[in-house]
Amino acid sequence: MKQYTVAILGATGAVGTQMLECLNEQEFPVGKLKLLASARSAGKTVEFRGEQIVIEEACPEAFEGCDIVLGAAGDDIAKELLPEAVKRGAVVVDNSHAFRMDPEVPLVVPEINADDIKWHHGLIANPNCATIIGLVPTWPLHQLAGVKRMIVSTYQAASGAGAPGMAELEAQLAALGRGEEIPEPRAFAAQLASNLIPQIGGVKEEGFTSEEMKLQNEGRKIMHLPELRVNCTCVRVPVLRSHSESITLEFERDITAEEARVALAAAPGVKLVDDMSAEDAHERFPMPMDTSDQDLIWVGRVRRDISNPEAARGITFWCCGDQIRKGAATNAVQIAKLLCE
Ligand SMILES: NC(=O)c1ccc[n+]([C@@H]2O[C@H](COP(=O)([O-])OP(=O)(O)OC[C@H]3O[C@@H](n4cnc5c(N)ncnc54)[C@H](OP(=O)(O)O)[C@@H]3O)[C@@H](O)[C@H]2O)c1
Repeated sequence: MKQYTVAILGATGAVGTQMLECLNEQEFPVGKLKLLASARSAGKTVEFRGEQIVIEEACPEAFEGCDIVLGAAGDDIAKELLPEAVKRGAVVVDNSHAFRMDPEVPLVVPEINADDIKWHHGLIANPNCATIIGLVPTWPLHQLAGVKRMIVSTYQAASGAGAPGMAELEAQLAALGRGEEIPEPRAFAAQLASNLIPQIGGVKEEGFTSEEMKLQNEGRKIMHLPELRVNCTCVRVPVLRSHSESITLEFERDITAEEARVALAAAPGVKLVDDMSAEDAHERFPMPMDTSDQDLIWVGRVRRDISNPEAARGITFWCCGDQIRKGAATNAVQIAKLLCE
C-alpha cells in the first residue's frame, strides 16, 4: 500500500491535535508526518505511532515533498501558506474559512458530496463545524422529501473557538468553583461560564453574524441547492466540547415524523437517539456530554412542525456532534482517505 507524506499546519491547536488521533484511528497510510505550527511551538515534540516528532515552524519550504497537507490554522495563515503547499505538488484539505466559497475549491462532507472531491485543483475545503453537524442529518431528509428552508438555532461549545476558548471556559469554571473573581475574557466577548453569548463571528448582512451566514452559503454549495433558504441564530454556550442544534426543515412534500426517523436511522454518519419514553435521559435524546469524542451526529426529538398545519410539511429535530472531530478533524481525514483511494 502506498504511504503518504502528510503535513498538519496548526498541529498544536484543538483541530490539529485531534487530526493526529484521527489519522491513527482511520488507519491513514502515513509514511512521514510533518507537524507545523508557529515559532512559539517550534522544537517541541509530539508522539505519533510511537515516534517523537519535532514541531517545525511553518514556512513555504516546509511543504517540500508533501503529498497531503491538512490545514488546521486560522484564515490568514491558511491564505498565506496553503497555496505554497499546492505549488509544491501537495493536495490540501483545509479547515479554515479562507477557501470555502471559492468556486474553484470543492467544499465537502463525504456523506453528502464525496463526488465533488474529483474536480479539485489542489485544494479541498472542510466546511464550518456547525454546517457539517447540521447538514449530515439534513441530507437524508432532503433526499426523502426535498428541503426548501431551514430554521436553525445552534448551541456551540467553547472549543469551537479553539484551544484558547476551551482554556478560558475551564479557567472561568474553576474560578467560579473557588469563589474567585473571573479573569478578564479574551477568547470570547463576555464571560461564558453561567452565561450564553448570542454572537459568533462578526456582524454581516441584515444583522446576521458571519457564522450564521455560513450555514446558508456553505449549505447551498455542499448540497447543490442554490435556492436553499436558511435562517440561523448561533449562540456560544458554556459547554466544553460538542455543538448542538435545533433544526426545523420545510420540505417540498409532506413527510411524517416516523418516515423521518426511518431515514435518519439508516443514514451514514447519523445515530438516532429518540425515545421520549426511556427512563434514562441519555437514551431519550442526544446531549453534548454524550456526543463528545466520537464521530457520529446524534439526532433526537424528531417531530412534525405544528406551526404550519395547512402545509404540514415541516420536521423539527435536535442534533449534537463533536465539532472538533466530525466538525473538523474527522471530516478532513475522511476526505484525505478518499483522495488516496
Ligand atoms: N475548534 C473547532 O471546533 C473548529 C472546527 C472547525 C473548523 N475550525 C477551524 O480550524 C482552524 C484551527 O482551529 P483551532 O480551533 O484548532 O485553533 P487553535 O486551537 O487556536 O489552533 C491554531 C493553530 O494554528 C497555529 N498557528 C498560529 N499562528 C501560526 C503561524 N503564524 N504559523 C503557523 N501556525 C500558526 C497554532 O500554533 P501555535 O500553537 O504554535 O500557536 C495552532 O497550532 C481554524 O481555521 C478554525 O476556524 C475549528
